Order: sequence, then C-alpha cells, then structure tokens
Amino acid sequence: MKWQTKALILRQLSKIPMGKRLYLLMQKLAGSNRAQPERDFARIAELLEMIQQSGQTAQGGVFFEIGSGWHPYAPLGCYLAGAKKIITVDVNPWMSLATARECIEASKPHIPHFAQTVGLDETVVAERYAKIRLSASTLDQLLASMQTEYHSPGDASATGLEPESIDFVISSNVLEHIPAPILEAITEESFRILKPGGLSVHRFNPGDHYANDDRSITTANFLQFSPAEWKKYGEGLAYHNRMRCPEFSEIFRKAGFIPLIEKDRLDPEALKAIENCSIELHADFKNFSHEELAADYMWYTGQKPVPTDSSNPPEQTEENPLLENR
Ligand SMILES: C[S@@+](CC[C@H](N)C(=O)[O-])C[C@H]1O[C@@H](n2cnc3c(N)ncnc32)[C@H](O)[C@@H]1O
Repeated sequence: MKWQTKALILRQLSKIPMGKRLYLLMQKLAGSNRAQPERDFARIAELLEMIQQSGQTAQGGVFFEIGSGWHPYAPLGCYLAGAKKIITVDVNPWMSLATARECIEASKPHIPHFAQTVGLDETVVAERYAKIRLSASTLDQLLASMQTEYHSPGDASATGLEPESIDFVISSNVLEHIPAPILEAITEESFRILKPGGLSVHRFNPGDHYANDDRSITTANFLQFSPAEWKKYGEGLAYHNRMRCPEFSEIFRKAGFIPLIEKDRLDPEALKAIENCSIELHADFKNFSHEELAADYMWYTGQKPVPTDSSNPPEQTEENPLLENR
C-alpha cells in the first residue's frame, strides 16, 4: 500500500468517534495484529538480556510496563523469568481476553527457546507457564494468574504508585509514539517510582513506520517534512514523534538516569537516501549526523543512581565512568 493511502485512512479513523474500534476491526480482518510469538518473545528477551547485562535479574522483580498493546508478551516474558509483579499500562484499551489468550496459547511452542535465550531453567519456566489460567473468564483473572495487572486507559506519567516501589520500567516499540513533553513527564515519573539502582529499559523504533508497508520509501522518509506537514501523516493513530536517538538519551539524562546501555541500529537504505539527497532534509533535522538520522532502532537502559555515602565514596575507574553510581 502507498504510504500516503495508509496515512489518509489512519487520519480519517483518528477523527471519527468509532475510529479506534474500526481500526481494531480492520487490523483483525487484515490479520496485522495477530500474535507473533517468535518476534515478540525475541523482543522481550532483548529487554531481559539488557537487565542481565546491567548486572541485575528479573527474578523477584516488580515491573512497570509502558504501552501494553494488544498482546501481553512483555508481562508473559517477565512472569516466566520469575517477576514478582508486572503492572502494565496503555492509553488505548487494545488488549482483550481473546488477544491475551491468543498470545499465551501461541507462545507455548516457543517457551523452550525463550528459556534458553535468556538463560532460564526450561523446567521452571514450563512449570510457571502451566500455572497460567487460560480458562479464566475475564482478562483480569487471566493476567492475575501470571502476576500481571493491566490498566487501560492508564497514565504512565501519573501512576499513583508509591515512590521507589518498582525495580524495572520497561517498554517495547512505544517511546517513538509519545510526544516529547509527555515522554519527559513519563520519564520523570519512572524515576520517581523506581527504587534506587532500579532500571529504565527500553527498545524502540525511531524510523518512519510507513516504510514497513511501502517499499518505495525508507525509514528516513519522514525527515523531509516540516512539523505542520508531518501532522497530516503522523498524528492520531499514526502518531510518531520523529525524535532522533540523542534526543531520547537527553530526556533520560535530564530526569537523572545514568546511561548503562545506549545502542542503535543503522538502516543502510535510509543512510543512502540521506547521503545521495534523494530526500531533502527539513531544517529541524540538519543538525544531526547522517548516522543519527538513519538510526531505525534504539536500545536504552538507564539506572536511577544509588545515593552514595559521602564518607565512603565509590571507586571510579577510567574504563567504566558510567558505572560510577552502581
Ligand atoms: C506499537 S504499540 C506496541 C505495543 C506493545 N508494547 C508491543 O510491543 O506489541 C504502541 C503502544 O503504545 C501505546 N501508547 C502510546 N502512547 C502511550 C502513553 N502515553 N502511555 C502508555 N501507552 C502509550 C499505544 O496505545 C500502543 O498500544
């Protein structure tokens, strides 16, 4: 589908009262929101690996997920990894008993591979999976059997949670859909609810999502538009903030997080389009390097500092200045 056609459909749906329902129906008919356990388990495995790389474990942890979406893969992965509790919130109530069941059932054959990927005991993970009440008659009951609470519509910038009550704030494919001022408020709230030493762990896609449907453009395509022009294409159900990776990092830094992992992926086709000037960059993007503009994925982990005892300051090594407060 031409990307402008998809943008037009999403724009019209965003404007009408039943638009979100119609969008869900269209996704069902097109099969585009079908459970994809292999892909989605790989994504939650990445978040769990980032926690491990930061020297921590999901076992016994309390998680807060921003942007639950249609299928509870992230809560399922965290539960299988031994999380004590997972609170997941979304502004849109996409998840239902049917989509949650579909995700959990479709996951079964992928459990051993998931366990191996994140270094978990397969028998323990299988036992945890077996405890999930697939026959539950409500979504809340089903999710409760995997230690999960779902809040939608929920506000990740005003959670009402106790300060310092969460070990890990996580998200997958969400941060690019949140306007910068709201993302700042959510990041400050994450900082407030995290325990000292707790982690904010995210993977997200700063590239133009229309490139997934229209092969004639690259993930850099949207960088040619002014904010006013982009409003025609990237608002409502199709909202994308077009922020580049350093801007996300800056929001976390300003909230007080110490960066432990900041990694991005370069889209070579996007880089080519920028370098051979097949798209003309809008002035808003001219101060970024070509590589920053062509990044189509980012993985970020930030840590809330642990207050240090000033009478006994930690040792700081030259090689690892980022870990000074761990
Ligand atoms: C692309 S979906 C990803 C869903 C899920 N994390 C996944 O990986 O399948 C983005 C989700 O973020 C949600 N979202 C957007 N803005 C949000 C906000 N301010 N707070 C919480 N969720 C939000 C959307 O409703 C949507 O469900």
